[in-house]
Amino acid sequence: MTERVVINDAIEFVKKKLIGVESGHDWSHAYRVWNMSKKIASQYEVNMSVVELGALLHDVGDSKFHNGNENVGVVVVKEFLEDNGIRGKEMEDVLEIVREISFKSGKRDLKERSIEFKIVQDSDRLDALGAIGIARAFNFGGYKGNELYNTRIKPNMSLTEAENKKKNCPTINHFYEKLLLLEGRMNTIEAKRIAKEKTNFMIEYEKRFREECGIVD
Ligand code: ADP
Ligand code: NI
Repeated sequence: MTERVVINDAIEFVKKKLIGVESGHDWSHAYRVWNMSKKIASQYEVNMSVVELGALLHDVGDSKFHNGNENVGVVVVKEFLEDNGIRGKEMEDVLEIVREISFKSGKRDLKERSIEFKIVQDSDRLDALGAIGIARAFNFGGYKGNELYNTRIKPNMSLTEAENKKKNCPTINHFYEKLLLLEGRMNTIEAKRIAKEKTNFMIEYEKRFREECGIVD
């Protein structure tokens, strides 16, 4: 099977798997992460099939789509890869991306991770920034029934990743608690550059948001 055929099959597979999920994590998210991953990867020496498949499949393994079970998604992706003739190291490298990006605890030290993993992780994080990042945050907040803002609730800067998601915080607080900090967590130089640009836009937006809402502090 040619690589393109596998990529096209992966696209169909992901579209089917992500039907009906919250729109910040649907096929369009996988599509943006795929595009960004290709863009960043073009600057490095990588196995492009691993980058592309990892990016397309990265959220299929997420426990939130499998009743909190962290293994089901990875098994499903493994089956897909085997059925499409992706085996051995290539399969393991794609599975590492799917498994480790989804697992909230994060199993391995970043130093041990592949360049392909780092690129897809950066691309996933970049999708939480900029105009699309703002849209996703407010969409997520709406989905959870959270307030847009509440001046009496101050950002909590000591939340863990898991607490961050569960908590019903006003969405604008999520900017300070997580989004504006992502720039400092990028793996690759290219992603850092893009993150800086997107973060500057969000800072401008946040200033305007406060002005329009009459928030003074
Ligand atoms: P992914 O599953 O793609 O790795 P996350 O699940 O960490 O990413 O976050 C997905 C999106 O949901 C991001 O755009 C993030 O800003 C948003 N999000 C997560 N937690 C919150 C929250 N408490 N308030 C608003 N948006 C949130
Ligand atoms: Ni994602």
